[in-house]
Amino acid sequence: MVRETELSPDDFIYPIFVVEGRGVRRPIPSMPGILNLSIDQAVEEARHAKSAGIPAVILFGIPAHKDARATAAYDSQGVIPRAIQAIKEVLPDLQLVADVCLCEYTDHGHCGLIQGQEVHNDSTLPLLAQAAVAYARAGADIIAPSDMMDGRVAAIRKALDEARFESLPILSYAAKYASGFYGPFREAAQSTPQFGDRRGYQMDPANVREALKEVAQDLQEGADMVMVKPALAYLDVIRRVKEQVNVPVAAYNVSGEYSMVKAAAQNGWVDYDRVMLEILVAIKRAGADLILTYHALDAAKLLS
Ligand code: PBG
Repeated sequence: MVRETELSPDDFIYPIFVVEGRGVRRPIPSMPGILNLSIDQAVEEARHAKSAGIPAVILFGIPAHKDARATAAYDSQGVIPRAIQAIKEVLPDLQLVADVCLCEYTDHGHCGLIQGQEVHNDSTLPLLAQAAVAYARAGADIIAPSDMMDGRVAAIRKALDEARFESLPILSYAAKYASGFYGPFREAAQSTPQFGDRRGYQMDPANVREALKEVAQDLQEGADMVMVKPALAYLDVIRRVKEQVNVPVAAYNVSGEYSMVKAAAQNGWVDYDRVMLEILVAIKRAGADLILTYHALDAAKLLS
């Protein structure tokens, strides 16, 4: 009766990693319980999410071939457009969030095009916009750019509008930190940078005013919702963003945060269910309206 924060499966967005092939269910060693799934299996996973009361999934694609220009990211017949179509066909009411980034599709593993030893911001923007339009045409409900290039929200908004997707919302990864907590994701997506790191475009963990600036900029460019990522070491950032904006705030409970809990639980060092729910309610209490989390299926079972 006096509880201030309610957690519900309704709060969750469940990430799914989609690979080429059929019948593929390849475990990701650093993320127990999470798999690389071919499209047919991703449909089944989406079905589980939907029946657990989870309203949305976010899709990450791992193409068969990576190249310097991330061609597979904006191919209208790429793994994500086909996955979107396949899931929509059987689950029209499940919200499909399409992550937009190049890092899973580049052979060098960076989130943008490379010139010399640097990621080139402006020449990356049209490719991100093209990817967004390809996912929109396939039936995505929400476009979620995670690349952290400057100006990408404006570029994507313009391209979507020109392709007559004026009402398709953008959830921008607005405050995304250069974080060690993405380690397991990079194993899952085989997207570890082959040289250098992402500190040129992702944020310094020490900064919070910069997060507010990034959020304000993305909103001005047309973002409809904003995200803070990672979540757990950044609860104060979630709170500050929540106080500054009047749009929905999402938080990404990222791969490393998930893997730590799984690993400790497997060792018998913490009670998985208890610690998981404590973490998720803390993220919500900090101000997140939406939580992207690999725990979504486990948590939804406990909450319903
Ligand atoms: C980039 C992207 C990353 C994650 C989501 N989108 C990784 C990165 O920046 O290296 C990380 C998510 C996670 O760790 O769970 N496309």
